[in-house]
Amino acid sequence: MSASMQGKAAVVTGGGGAIGHAAAQCLAAAGADVMLVDIDAAALAGKRAALAARGVRAETFVADVSKAGDVAAYVARALAVFGRIDAFFNNAGIEGKLGPTYEYDEEEFDRIIAVNLKGVFLGLRHVLPVMLRQGGGAVVNTGSIASERGLAGACAYNASKHGVIGLTRTAASEVGPQGVRVNAVMPGVVDTPLLEAMLRMMFNGDLDAGKRALGRVATLERIGAPAEIGEVATFLLSDASSFVNGAAWAVDGGALSTIRH
Ligand SMILES: NC(=O)c1ccc[n+]([C@@H]2O[C@H](COP(=O)([O-])OP(=O)(O)OC[C@H]3O[C@@H](n4cnc5c(N)ncnc54)[C@H](O)[C@@H]3O)[C@@H](O)[C@H]2O)c1
Repeated sequence: MSASMQGKAAVVTGGGGAIGHAAAQCLAAAGADVMLVDIDAAALAGKRAALAARGVRAETFVADVSKAGDVAAYVARALAVFGRIDAFFNNAGIEGKLGPTYEYDEEEFDRIIAVNLKGVFLGLRHVLPVMLRQGGGAVVNTGSIASERGLAGACAYNASKHGVIGLTRTAASEVGPQGVRVNAVMPGVVDTPLLEAMLRMMFNGDLDAGKRALGRVATLERIGAPAEIGEVATFLLSDASSFVNGAAWAVDGGALSTIRH
């Protein structure tokens, strides 16, 4: 079975960003109606029309995933527009500042955890009841290769992404018996604004050197494209992955599969 999303309604957080938008394009190409959610109204501008051009219903909604009221509002809007939520890409995230754990700023730690971990929890907290009422649905949370390895200088990001996998496995075990699936993707190094923000901090602004260096963590010896994450997320959100639940899928060019030396 191929990854058809015909007749399904999808919500994508971080939909104004690179991976969220790429996933939305894949979902729309597979036939899904899509709502993009993002805190950045400017990032959403124009994206609704680009999706609607594929012949699906498209919506955008400005919301902060770390605020329960905003999450309730985007879920209510999706239900008002589509009547259901079949697929939920719980993807918004921020990189935050870099610094060693023993000097890390407490407020920055809280800010990153609020978006990357609590935001994913709030998404599950508000979308899963909808899917349970419907008797079905699929969720994909966005982890990272930093969900499975330490990442020097990024304690909050790293902890948040480990936590996303815990949320994924726990929620999957709770709702699987009722026909709702929860999985995660763990992107490797992907060419997005978030990566560029990190590289600016790590490589003194030399983006090309940073991309070459980080490409080498993958056995494919390159960084990934947002659409390569979007395709796997779409597969996990579709019935083509109907026997996959609680899984954390590395989409990382092989980075987690070996120790490069
Ligand atoms: N780019 C990479 O190399 C990489 C690697 C592993 C994991 N990831 C993860 O992929 C996901 C998407 O990141 P991306 O690379 O597409 O970056 P991106 O910066 O292009 O997209 C992230 C989007 O999330 C939005 N966002 C930030 N805070 C928000 C909030 N509080 N509420 C709602 N929206 C908010 C941003 O406005 C942005 O549009 C993130 O969870 C990130 O941690 C990225």
